Amino acid sequence: MIANMNQDDLKKQVAQAAKDEVLKRMPKGQYLGIGTGSTANWFIDLLAPHRDHFAGVVSSSLASTERLIKLGFHVVDANQLPEAVQAQTHPLPIYVDGADEIDPQGHMIKGGGGALTREKIIASMAKEFICICDESKQVNTLGQFPLPIEIIPLAESAVRQQLQPLGGKAVLRLNKSGKREGQAFLTDNGAWILDVHGLQIKDPIQMERDFNQIAGVICVGLFAQRKADLLLVGGKQGVGSITFS
Ligand code: A5P
Repeated sequence: MIANMNQDDLKKQVAQAAKDEVLKRMPKGQYLGIGTGSTANWFIDLLAPHRDHFAGVVSSSLASTERLIKLGFHVVDANQLPEAVQAQTHPLPIYVDGADEIDPQGHMIKGGGGALTREKIIASMAKEFICICDESKQVNTLGQFPLPIEIIPLAESAVRQQLQPLGGKAVLRLNKSGKREGQAFLTDNGAWILDVHGLQIKDPIQMERDFNQIAGVICVGLFAQRKADLLLVGGKQGVGSITFS
């Protein structure tokens, strides 16, 4: 049975494990951070019967918010958390999200779905980042997956110029379908994304810093300074877990 599992089955399996983990770790009545993507979607669906366990959830994208609302979750804007909660160093005990790549230290590339900026904000509010993915996302060195960088549209040319010495080939993300097919993909923040191909990210923390310095960059999809704390990974042998120090 397990040998026949496809990638989607693995995502569902790991989402199930994350749901159990969150319910075990979080007392009733707290706020949970929830990410974006196909693995996060499984997590949302499986968590739905337990939505009343939480005072509310904070979502990292319009797509996740829409799904959460349809399933009856109480979705709260990050700025609208109760004052006493906002005043805490970590208003959210846990943030659960997928990744496009994760290395053996827990550094990640995220943003394949375009939600990197909000994901980074919500992750920064959380005490613990639980990354959920299937085993295809585990790599030794980040960079095979193109690194998404969200930029201010008018800065495209300037950002490209400044990216050059850092290596890689920046490609503007375009819509692949729909009314705006072939036009620049717009993030939830009305910005554009450059996907940088061909990087070998040997020092993710330094690269995140370097990219953050570029004027016009809103956010880089490297989650190195705020990496995962716990990885739940779905494989053909079941769900494995790695805690990062
Ligand atoms: C969304 O912008 C991303 O960061 C996702 O978390 C990441 O792309 C993983 O998505 P999947 O779970 O669909 O692989």
